[in-house]
Amino acid sequence: MSSNVLPRKVRVVEVGPRDGLQNESEIIATAAKIQFIELLNQAGFATIEVTSFVSPRAIPQLADAAQVYSAVTRRPGTTYPVLVPNRQGMERALAAGVRAIAVFTAASEAFTQANIHMTIAESIAAFTPVMEMARAEGVSVRGYISTAFGCPYQGVVAPESVVDVAQQLLDLGVDELSIGDTIGVATPNQVMDLVPRLASIADLDRLALHFHDTRGTALANVLAGLEQGITIFDSAAGGAGGCPYAPGAAGNLATEDLLYMLHGMGIATGIDLDAVVAASRYLAPHLSRPLTSKYLRAVSATH
Ligand code: COA
Ligand code: ZN
Repeated sequence: MSSNVLPRKVRVVEVGPRDGLQNESEIIATAAKIQFIELLNQAGFATIEVTSFVSPRAIPQLADAAQVYSAVTRRPGTTYPVLVPNRQGMERALAAGVRAIAVFTAASEAFTQANIHMTIAESIAAFTPVMEMARAEGVSVRGYISTAFGCPYQGVVAPESVVDVAQQLLDLGVDELSIGDTIGVATPNQVMDLVPRLASIADLDRLALHFHDTRGTALANVLAGLEQGITIFDSAAGGAGGCPYAPGAAGNLATEDLLYMLHGMGIATGIDLDAVVAASRYLAPHLSRPLTSKYLRAVSATH
């Protein structure tokens, strides 16, 4: 354990409408997605990732990206990023009025091939025109690095590979990096090892951690990240989600569980936990699997 003073304030990036829903096999009505996002809006997030402008063949669930994005109320003080894999996605996103995007690659070649049919190098090359368009339009860009702590196909992922991909994304000009444990295998020692390596190439306030809770280590990993000075964490309301290209992936770290821990530790987020619970309760009947948030279950048992 390091003796670092923990951050007093954290930005929670709500990824439920995108990461939480993309793996749902039953298509959810567009109106239900919009209502879910409106309820999240009431919780006061600074960032809500609302959808993906990816190939509808790859992710049929998010084929309604333009309708969802256009319908969502844009609260002042909140940004609404969307995933964009290529130039075609960027054109669709800009046409819908998007002001913040996320590009995504991985630290493992095998996963990148399965997810976006490219090598890591090809994915970076595909982002170059996207970055140019973003810069020209003043659109902010987050870069996701999936499978940073382990890969469903190749197993171990070396921290050097993560740093190498991170450097390439930084060279490309991304504003923020989100380091993803896509299949929920990370343990805190890996976080303690990786974060200082990344902090040597990027300011800490540009680094986000993105955990899945597949094996119950997500909050322990958050604590390790906090101790290393990380102040941005991704999570999904209710713990929805799982990546379609990550077999066995359970949900994202649940926003409720993350908020409960942070608030209990005296770390401010600006987010209303009860309002997140309300959004999850709205979403639950639209999903094919029960939501996994422990906090949500606890309050549902007592109310
Ligand atoms: N939006 C809409 N359609 C798109 C698109 C986009 N961003 N990118 C490609 N397409 C369409 C093409 O028009 C083409 O359609 P057609 O067959 O009717 O002509 C088809 O998709 C295939 O395009 P191609 O360029 O050959 O791409 P691909 O099949 O190799 O797929 C990706 C590459 C990246 C577009 C696709 O794999 C993808 O969108 N993956 C996203 C995966 C994801 O979101 N994972 C979860 C996040 S971690
Ligand atoms: Zn994820």
